[in-house]
Amino acid sequence: MPDVAIPLMYAAADVLRANDRGERTVAAPRLYPHQWSWDAAFVAIGWGTVSVPRALDELRHLLRGQWATGMIPQIVFSAEPGYFPGPDRWRTQGLPTVPTDVQTSGICQPAVHSLAVWVIGEQARRNGGADAEAFEAFLADTFEAWFRWHVWLDDARGSHPSGLIEIHHPWESGMDNSPRWDAACARVRVGQMAPYVREDTKHVADVEQRPADADYDRYLWLVEQLVSVGYEDAAAREVIDFRVGDVFFTATHALSAAVLATLGDRLGRTAQANTLRGMAARARAAVAATADPETGHARDFDMRAEEWLRADTIGGFAALICGAEPDVYAALTSDLLGPDWCGHPRLANPLPPTTSPDSPAFVSRNYWRGPQWPVITWLFTWALRHHGHAEAAKTIAAAGRDQLADGTFSEYYDAVTGAPLGSRNQSWTAAAALAWATDEES
Ligand code: SER
Repeated sequence: MPDVAIPLMYAAADVLRANDRGERTVAAPRLYPHQWSWDAAFVAIGWGTVSVPRALDELRHLLRGQWATGMIPQIVFSAEPGYFPGPDRWRTQGLPTVPTDVQTSGICQPAVHSLAVWVIGEQARRNGGADAEAFEAFLADTFEAWFRWHVWLDDARGSHPSGLIEIHHPWESGMDNSPRWDAACARVRVGQMAPYVREDTKHVADVEQRPADADYDRYLWLVEQLVSVGYEDAAAREVIDFRVGDVFFTATHALSAAVLATLGDRLGRTAQANTLRGMAARARAAVAATADPETGHARDFDMRAEEWLRADTIGGFAALICGAEPDVYAALTSDLLGPDWCGHPRLANPLPPTTSPDSPAFVSRNYWRGPQWPVITWLFTWALRHHGHAEAAKTIAAAGRDQLADGTFSEYYDAVTGAPLGSRNQSWTAAAALAWATDEES
């Protein structure tokens, strides 16, 4: 590990400590003062390099929000102010499937949690002693909860003939205003709803870095539609204006179910492990089947309009997350590293932009429409290594760490100028820095 990495790791650990609220970590100090689902998974991976017990607490806290259906909600709310929409707008409290002791939103986010359990487990095994024991106890306690999450995704969100996991809100993709959703969002007809005031633009002064007001109208309208059916899955499929098969979400489900199956084997839960392997195989096949015949890139599917969604985004590389046939995987890897993506001459850093710089939808500083997100970069490097492409992973990880050398641990970075954007001291960005440092030791 180069010497410069050491101060970066200390600074990253300080960010997590500053954002620590005991058993949970705020996703960002002011912009996101609650526990977000996929943030918590990555944050737990970061904590795992500092303290395995603290990492496990993070995941346990997230599971307090798990619904009786098995869904792990996108947000477990705290009492901290400053975020919209809060519990009043989601109106999940009192529903029969919702926990009574914590407040949550009513949608989910990509299924990276079992991956986090796996990565923390590997760290605990390397540490040995009390960490290894704490992890084994945690796994025995929580295996069922992670299993039920994947089963819910498979049952409630995986019934479309495409085999893709369907989402009912752009926020469920985690990539809110990605051009992936432009066509589907254009079909959302916003109806009458209570007025609202955005909080996010009070924390990020430059509105060009955030989704537009018209996006927010749709986001809030979709919440109204979900509230109207009490978040009941089958009814939601009927009423919701936004119903898309999310190829990237599907890939995270495939990867996570596969690693959870291996953990299930170790626990002797053979039947559940086999179920998970079946899900993983189906999800991986679904991702493979989306490949655009011209580019080989994965595509999302609009289940309302019954058509493929075409957008030149990082979602196109979903198969790199869940794995693919060796020739397909190798071709996608070289494409990602090549001149159209990481090697694009307009980029400040040779890292995957969230939207292709050649796409008409590309905006280098706007949220998921162009900027590079360190946590997404980390996920790709982990997956590349896992699927046997260690050199590519190393190349991208080195550039990813260079990007973080400014010490701001920003939410995302301008793909063209390299400027830090969005929130500073974002927890999952700090977690990515810590995870990269440890990846090299493993
Ligand atoms: N990313 C969303 C927001 O900006 C929520 O998941 O509020």
